Amino acid sequence: MTTQSARVMLVDDDRDLLRLLSIRLQGAGYSVTAVESGEAALSQLAVASPDVVITDLRMGGMDGMALFQSLQKKNPALPVIILTAHGTIPDAVDATQRGVFGYLTKPFDGKALLTQVEKALQVSGNATAANDSDADTSWREEIITRSPEMEAILAKVRLVANSDASVMIFGDSGTGKELLARAIHRASPRATQPFVAVNCGAIPEQLLESELFGHTKGSFTGAASDYKGLFQAAGRGTVFLDEIGDMPLPLQVKLLRVLQEKEVRPIGSIQAIKVDVRIISATHRNLEEAIKQGAFREDLYYRLHVVALALPPLSQRREDIPVLAAHFLKTLAGRYGKTLNGFAQDAIEVLVKHSWPGNVRELYNVVEQAVALSTTPIISPAQLETAIRGETGNLSSFESARFEFERDYLAKLLKITSGNVTQAARLAKRNRTEFYKLLQRHHLNPSMFKPGIAA
Ligand SMILES: Nc1ncnc2c1ncn2[C@@H]1O[C@H](COP(=O)(O)OP(=O)(O)OP(=O)(O)O)[C@@H](O)[C@H]1O
Ligand SMILES: [Mg+2]
Repeated sequence: MTTQSARVMLVDDDRDLLRLLSIRLQGAGYSVTAVESGEAALSQLAVASPDVVITDLRMGGMDGMALFQSLQKKNPALPVIILTAHGTIPDAVDATQRGVFGYLTKPFDGKALLTQVEKALQVSGNATAANDSDADTSWREEIITRSPEMEAILAKVRLVANSDASVMIFGDSGTGKELLARAIHRASPRATQPFVAVNCGAIPEQLLESELFGHTKGSFTGAASDYKGLFQAAGRGTVFLDEIGDMPLPLQVKLLRVLQEKEVRPIGSIQAIKVDVRIISATHRNLEEAIKQGAFREDLYYRLHVVALALPPLSQRREDIPVLAAHFLKTLAGRYGKTLNGFAQDAIEVLVKHSWPGNVRELYNVVEQAVALSTTPIISPAQLETAIRGETGNLSSFESARFEFERDYLAKLLKITSGNVTQAARLAKRNRTEFYKLLQRHHLNPSMFKPGIAA
């Protein structure tokens, strides 16, 4: 960026001063947008897209500091220079401590003005250099989208990636939570370090604890050697806690402690080990509801959800359906070694109209089925309709799939132990009380499994 084309936004409720400053700056080759209030500055920000903002401190309506704060929220890298009358220098100094780039005391000479602007532009020039590395979009290349809502999420990702702020990703199953988590990691300074994902719902409590924080040899049955755990394995990278809403309460307490103290203590060890990881978590659940029901700790929730990103279901961004479908068709055709030219026009319509309860993952599966079974270079609507019926027809929700699994699993245990609850509980590594509760939930009566009773 050359200073010749640099854009300056001037904000002052004193029209004469505004005109004078404009002339000065234009004379120096800047392109100037002059507005008379903080409110006007904000409303013209997107159009003017200034490289530096100069604002009066005392104005009617929104004052210079309030304007600065709003600008910071929109673009933290935008330098702001404050104009101040003689009596308000302490305020101005205070302002620089709060992040304002600099201040000019009225009356000021033209040279001081230009020097300040020049300096500010160097800073925003650096910011633009940073923006240039922003132009490196490889961190998001796996995310295919043309949805403005998704773009807004990705813009937010770009901003939070540089910080260590904990991010919580909400979204229904298959909306791309894990993909987004990886993108955050790739956009962050931790990108060269490991990204470690763990599904907190799929692993029993004790195993999950050791998986996360490690264990020492012999600390429990089956702990045959020392194990570092994922927090240590991640080094200075990112730990992705998937399905955090399913983490058992006792482990939530331990996780909270780890996050507060930034150290882990492997099971069986008395020594705590420092860790420095970025946490991203994800859930398809409504955690606020879980908090109300006492199933999720509020304090942990606030730790994990410094920044929240909510992925919209695919049915709320239908413009993504054709681009995603085309993308999947291309990759899958390659994988299946088929020559496919694309979708028939009315085939795309079938895709765009469908409700996609399984979101992007379902779309992927549907395209995969169509590709696998296709015998022609163009995918027809009928092929997709069959694939969609297959997918959604057989697909139960995560909840009900888990429920069914639990019921079958418990029944199997009772069968093996001939209805002996103590034994069955031991096999499941649950205590008897807990085990009884599980049986009740599934209306399973152990006596039905006792020998001599016909099923
Ligand atoms: N915007 C996208 N562009 C390309 N592929 C995507 C996009 N969103 C999701 N996918 C693909 O869809 C599949 C599901 O995504 P992902 O596993 O990230 O979803 P999820 O929200 O974690 O799902 P679940 O809740 O079932 O674990 C993956 O194969 C992923 O690569
Ligand atoms: Mg996932």
